[in-house]
Amino acid sequence: RSAIMDYFEIKGSKKLYGSVKVSGAKNAVLPLMAASILNKKKIKILNVPTLSDSITMSKLIEEMGGDVKFDSDNSIIVDSSKLNNPYAPYDLVKTMRASFYVLGPLLARFKKAKVSLPGGCAWGPRPVDFHLEGLKSLGVKISIENGYVVANAKQLVGNKIHFPKISVGATGNIVMVAILAEGTTTITNAAAEPEIQQLCKMLNKMGAKISGIGSNTLSIEGVKSLKPIKEVSVIPDRIEAGTFLIAAAAVGGEVEIKNIIPEHLESVINCLLKANIDINIKDNSINIKSDGKNILSTNIETNEYPGFPTDLQAQWMMLMCLADGTSTIKENIYYDRFTHIMELNRLGCNIKLEDSVAIIEGNKNLIGADVMSTDIRASAALIIAALCAEGTTTISRVYHIDRGYNKIEKKLTDIGANIIRKK
Ligand code: UD1
Repeated sequence: RSAIMDYFEIKGSKKLYGSVKVSGAKNAVLPLMAASILNKKKIKILNVPTLSDSITMSKLIEEMGGDVKFDSDNSIIVDSSKLNNPYAPYDLVKTMRASFYVLGPLLARFKKAKVSLPGGCAWGPRPVDFHLEGLKSLGVKISIENGYVVANAKQLVGNKIHFPKISVGATGNIVMVAILAEGTTTITNAAAEPEIQQLCKMLNKMGAKISGIGSNTLSIEGVKSLKPIKEVSVIPDRIEAGTFLIAAAAVGGEVEIKNIIPEHLESVINCLLKANIDINIKDNSINIKSDGKNILSTNIETNEYPGFPTDLQAQWMMLMCLADGTSTIKENIYYDRFTHIMELNRLGCNIKLEDSVAIIEGNKNLIGADVMSTDIRASAALIIAALCAEGTTTISRVYHIDRGYNKIEKKLTDIGANIIRKK
């Protein structure tokens, strides 16, 4: 785990050559670990990314009385048989909002839970009202006490739930309760993200009856009990893959991105093609070739899956700073997610913000500077910018990046980047 003072020193203008093996998805492993609370026996989770977020979730499970063992082969064994304390404290939830994923499985298993409300995040408020309203409609009694959600569920009954906006986390939490409720639950405007699909498939293996997986309407027929399963393997991280694709496009070179499911990256691939980047798609990998020049300005909007992911918005913005003209990015998921603009501008980018639309002037020559990461994906954009910039850039607060990227400096060094972690 990285120390709080770690920073990256990056010397730019070196092209990237070689191959990158993508790790398991952060946004899949966290709900799968939460779901293992419902497994009540040992489960081996394979292809687990080494991230501080995976460690936070394992601490949380241990705090509740469960046991998590990390193996050397990127797998973990979660044993929730003795888990008996349905309580998620503030000090863990505040470092990782996805801790809130334990609320659903705790309620389904213990009929009660006390979980800290996550606070805001670097780019603004991130409410959990959809989670709480959805749970209430399944019969859960909820009160907020001293910053905690205190929830009780004597009887869980299926219902019709419509989310005002698609929410990944709320879909996951509601599904994990509805599978053990009496009767049928229908969720409309449900998330179709691959990570939610994987969670639903794992739950079905355990005996749940969820249909409509991968669409925006989920139908869940409640069952009396679940049966334990022995193993699940985390899907590849489409955001990490997308980050390396955009890095290769921006910095230039020839890179093979391996261990991925290209289908999960369709919107990103389409945008890269529109931007004139040379891409060759294979079964489980993508080859990308770029000279870092002749990039065409391409307007995008972030959207729910299968749209362009908000988690790649910052990285894409960086790429567009090198493109041949003006382009725009409209952020439809988190209207305030733009803290990276000021840092990118310090490296010589020219980005303005009008409402939730970023306007990017391309054709920029970036020059190294000292910058600061503000969140996981903003940090990734800064790393890409630094790799394109002339001279040296330092990026402080890399603990943000350690939350979501598995050994990013090693993976980049292996393809020729000059990036060093310093303390
Ligand atoms: C997940 C991802 C995160 C990604 C995001 C959007 C994980 C661990 N994290 O976060 O990386 O950026 O999806 O793809 O998977 N909302 C409400 N009320 C709620 C819940 C959500 O208003 O109760 C709003 C949010 O403010 C946001 C939108 O719904 O505008 C989508 O958020 P959501 O899908 O819930 O994000 P997370 O699940 O937290």
